[in-house]
Amino acid sequence: NAAQELAGLNIVITAGPTREALDPVRYISNHSSGKMGFAIAHAARRAGATVTLICGPVNLPTPAHCTRVDVTSAEEMLAAAEQHMPNCDIFISTAAVADYRAATVADNKIKKSSDELTLTFIKNPDILATIAARPDAPFTVGFAAESQHVEAYAKDKMKRKRLDMIAANDITREGLGFNSDNNALHVFWDGGDEALPEGSKQALATSLLQRVAAQYNNKKSK
Ligand code: C5P
Repeated sequence: NAAQELAGLNIVITAGPTREALDPVRYISNHSSGKMGFAIAHAARRAGATVTLICGPVNLPTPAHCTRVDVTSAEEMLAAAEQHMPNCDIFISTAAVADYRAATVADNKIKKSSDELTLTFIKNPDILATIAARPDAPFTVGFAAESQHVEAYAKDKMKRKRLDMIAANDITREGLGFNSDNNALHVFWDGGDEALPEGSKQALATSLLQRVAAQYNNKKSK
């Protein structure tokens, strides 16, 4: 019996990878499965929230009663997120956004010719930081996948991107994280932190949302 801790709140969640075109038939992307974001969407809905799930290309069924917005590139994901900002109470960014995109997308298929090929990439917008910098910014929750100095890097990321909360995971831990059904998270906020031990992404999503609800209410009451 899920407590209705998020009843009446609008939550926007990004999930999955983005895909950045190189030419009409090729792209660069990453192995993000979208599972963590989908698990959070499901848990948020069960906790009474109205959920919009903005996702890159993933192979997952849409959680019941969540509104799903499919996008491909980082720029499209940012546009979709911004479009859903008015009336958003909590923004949770689980997407593995490609940091760079091709400076120019070739109009035609890039032909095989010389032995070397050089492509120029330019930085993608940081979706989470852009949302957090808005004058009407919602309560923002980011993720930090780190392979070392997990706590220091996560806290620095939270500060730099002006987030209310960050959920860090150590990607060197075997059988957890990317593409796995299990994960472990260490959640940080201004003035506190809590380690959420290894468990299914669904169980972790539920406990993460309890901390989100508590800090959201804490911020509101200030
Ligand atoms: O800087 P880093 O990529 O490690 O930050 C991770 C957090 O920022 C995640 O919450 C991710 O969804 C978000 N992010 C984003 N847009 C980017 C890069 C990261 O929203 N271009």
